[in-house]
Amino acid sequence: MRIPIRVSLHSILTLALALTTIGVWSHTASAQNQQGRAATKVEYEGWRQYMTTCARCHGDDAVGGVMAPDLRKTVASDSASQKSFHATVADGRPAKGMPSFKSSLHAEHIDAIYAYLRARASNELSAGRPKQQYGGASLSKIWPAR
Ligand code: HEC
Repeated sequence: MRIPIRVSLHSILTLALALTTIGVWSHTASAQNQQGRAATKVEYEGWRQYMTTCARCHGDDAVGGVMAPDLRKTVASDSASQKSFHATVADGRPAKGMPSFKSSLHAEHIDAIYAYLRARASNELSAGRPKQQYGGASLSKIWPAR
């Protein structure tokens, strides 16, 4: 009689452990899906500009690239104000491989990139294409057609 009881106790424990593992795993997966809030329209535009213009050097999702620094750190540090960020992007640092974007980006685009990077630096926006917030100012109101 003893052996069958042990076996069934063992299988109950195994089943309990398996269920716990599945529970923890699914909880983690859903927590990851919920990570990050939706982007404002300005942040979303910043993401779009960043990915088309900056990501090839500074890395997808602003995590830093092989040749260019992690811009989340740049915007998170107190020393780098939005104004100095703007100046660096507009003028570039040609001698060090950072191009000038004066002629290709509107001032509002640079500010939008800054807003996106700030939200990435604080982990409010997660990696990947951000979800978009509903409502708020529409892009045509923020940027008049060229
Ligand atoms: C061709 C590659 C390249 C592209 C494209 C590029 N950068 Fe850079 N960027 C660099 C390099 C290299 C540096 C480091 C320069 C240095 O050593 O001072 C840099 C530095 C910077 C810095 C200063 C960072 C710091 O902490 O000192 C900022 C801000 C910046 N880039 C913003 C941007 C933005 C915004 C874009 C897109 C509009 C962009 N960069 C596109 C190569 C690039």
